[in-house]
Amino acid sequence: MDIVSEILSLLARTLLVYLPAMAANGAPVFLRRGRPIDMGRVFIDGRRVLGDGKTFEGLGLFLFFGTAVGAVYTSATGEPLYIVYGLLSGIGAALGDLLGAFIKRRIGLRRGEPAPVLDQTGFMVMATVVLRATGIDTATGLGIDLRVFVTGLLVILVAHKATNYGAYRLGLKEVPY
Ligand code: CTP
Ligand code: MG
Repeated sequence: MDIVSEILSLLARTLLVYLPAMAANGAPVFLRRGRPIDMGRVFIDGRRVLGDGKTFEGLGLFLFFGTAVGAVYTSATGEPLYIVYGLLSGIGAALGDLLGAFIKRRIGLRRGEPAPVLDQTGFMVMATVVLRATGIDTATGLGIDLRVFVTGLLVILVAHKATNYGAYRLGLKEVPY
C-alpha cells in the first residue's frame, strides 16, 4: 500500500473508532438547562464539585447519542456488538467530560472557562480507556492501537482549531481560538 492510501485508511479507521464518542460529546451543547449532577454541592475546597455545566439531562444525551451511532453501525453491518460499543463510547466520553469538569473546578476555573486540550480531548481519552478495558474494541474489530489513539487526538485538536477559526472569520466568535 502506498503512503497516501495508508494515511487515508488510518484516518478512516480513526473516524469510525471515535465517531460514537464524538457524537456523544457534542450532543449536550444544545441543552439550555438541566439538573446538575453534583446537585449544587461544593467540594472540600469550597468550590462546586462539577458545576452547573454537567447535568443529568446532558449525561442522558451522551449515552443516547453514543448508542445511536453504534446502532447505525449495527444496521450497516449486522454486528449487534456495535450497539454495546456505542453505549460504552458514550459512558467513557461522559466520564472524561465529568472528570475534566472536576479537574477544572479544583484548579479554580468556573463553568465554561476554557481549559485548552483538556476540554477537547478529555472525552476521547476516557472513551479509549473504557473501550480498551472492556475489550469491546477488539470484539467488534474496531481495535484501538496507539496509532489510532494519537491520530484521534491530533484530528480533534486540529478540527477544533479549524472550526474556531472558521467561526471567527464568519463573525460568530470574537476571537480566532
Ligand atoms: N452539558 C450538560 N451536561 C453535561 C455536559 C454538558 O448539560 N454532562 C451542557 C451544559 O449546558 C454545558 C454545555 O453542554 O454548558 C457545554 O458543555 P461543556 O463545554 O462540556 O461545559 P462547560 O459549560 O464548558 O462547563 P465546564 O467548564 O464544566 O466544562
Ligand atoms: Mg466548555
